[in-house]
Amino acid sequence: MRVRAGLRDAVRRPGPSQTRRRRGPTPATSGAPSPTGGGARLAETGALGTTPVVADAAAAPVVAGGGIVPALRRRAAHRSHRPRRPGRPAPLGRPGACGAPLTLVGMTARAAPLPHSRHRPSGRTPVVGTVTRGTTNPNRLRRMDRWIAATHGAELRRAEDPLAIDLGYGAAPWTAVELLGRLRTVAPHARVVGIEIEPERVAAARPYERDGLAFRHGGFEIPVAGRPLLVRAANVLRQYDEDQVAAVWERLCARLAPAGARSRGGLLVEGTCDEIGRRHVWVALGPEGPRTVTFATRLGSLERPSDLAERLPKALIHRNVPGEPVHAFLRDFDRAWAAAAPYASYGARQRWLRAVRDLRADWPVSDSPARWRQGEVTVAWGALAPRG
Ligand SMILES: C[S@@+](CC[C@H](N)C(=O)[O-])C[C@H]1O[C@@H](n2cnc3c(N)ncnc32)[C@H](O)[C@@H]1O
Repeated sequence: MRVRAGLRDAVRRPGPSQTRRRRGPTPATSGAPSPTGGGARLAETGALGTTPVVADAAAAPVVAGGGIVPALRRRAAHRSHRPRRPGRPAPLGRPGACGAPLTLVGMTARAAPLPHSRHRPSGRTPVVGTVTRGTTNPNRLRRMDRWIAATHGAELRRAEDPLAIDLGYGAAPWTAVELLGRLRTVAPHARVVGIEIEPERVAAARPYERDGLAFRHGGFEIPVAGRPLLVRAANVLRQYDEDQVAAVWERLCARLAPAGARSRGGLLVEGTCDEIGRRHVWVALGPEGPRTVTFATRLGSLERPSDLAERLPKALIHRNVPGEPVHAFLRDFDRAWAAAAPYASYGARQRWLRAVRDLRADWPVSDSPARWRQGEVTVAWGALAPRG
């Protein structure tokens, strides 16, 4: 599969700072997710922590090389011998249940099965995933929505059926309602389907259905007809294990609209933000695999760029350690930010612009000052992908 191949290729290509610079290490920022902060207006509802959906052997999707149930059993046995503390990175090259390494890059679908699944009573496609905390907030995903509208708007506008999925919208449907509004400013025929794995959250959202907006019960299988042009999964994978990410990406990328003569195909945007959306980091993937990583922040509240480390997506959060490209990137970004301190007298935006310009000399920054001005910077995935 090209997603995994892309990940492996990225590993063989070290980030520039890995090869060119050897300055003192910067302490890694904690990867622990923060609890719901004071800004959260919505109490968490439903189950706290991850509640596995009952795995049903008959319902389990076929997973390459042995199927999900044997793989889950092997993995459970493996874990019972070697418990992993929450938030602790999986050691590089740790042998997987089937002999393959259980790292993000090296893992195979066999070593890292998709999350549990179960049959729907109606006998339709099994739901794939686990119920997790439903924390959400109005306007929380504005930075991601704006970026999607700016970078993917033309694709959506050209499409015959510009279908977007808000996967795992949470305990209230705000993010799906807002996504529709923002997409329609660039693609008036866009429609959004919110998909949630927790049935009560679907029932709670249904009254908000309207022209162009629907809600469905489901998971990573994405139970809609056709291939979406956009799948947005914000703050969903953060609550899964790191070693499940590649398999989930692979599955979601396979559901995207394919590339064509006039189209790069659908886009999967998967990432994490704080409770009120001031700090946000996401990975964008196409049908061919991961493309870019975007860092987005409210500049006025930023002390240094590595403040964003605590919002790295699951694929990167445990990799903010010396020797990993994302750590080197944040270290260099902090240095560029420090060097740009004189620009602070013109405002945080000018300082950010200067720092990103400097950063561009060593890192494959793929966007332009128009996006930097929004407090964003986008970098090619290959430069930040985990090693090994
Ligand atoms: C923390 S909330 C995020 C809500 C919203 N996306 C946001 O960023 O504010 C995560 C939600 O994802 C849902 N979820 C987790 N795994 C899922 C899956 N495989 N398919 C659909 N929803 C899922 C959980 O039930 C939960 O409601």
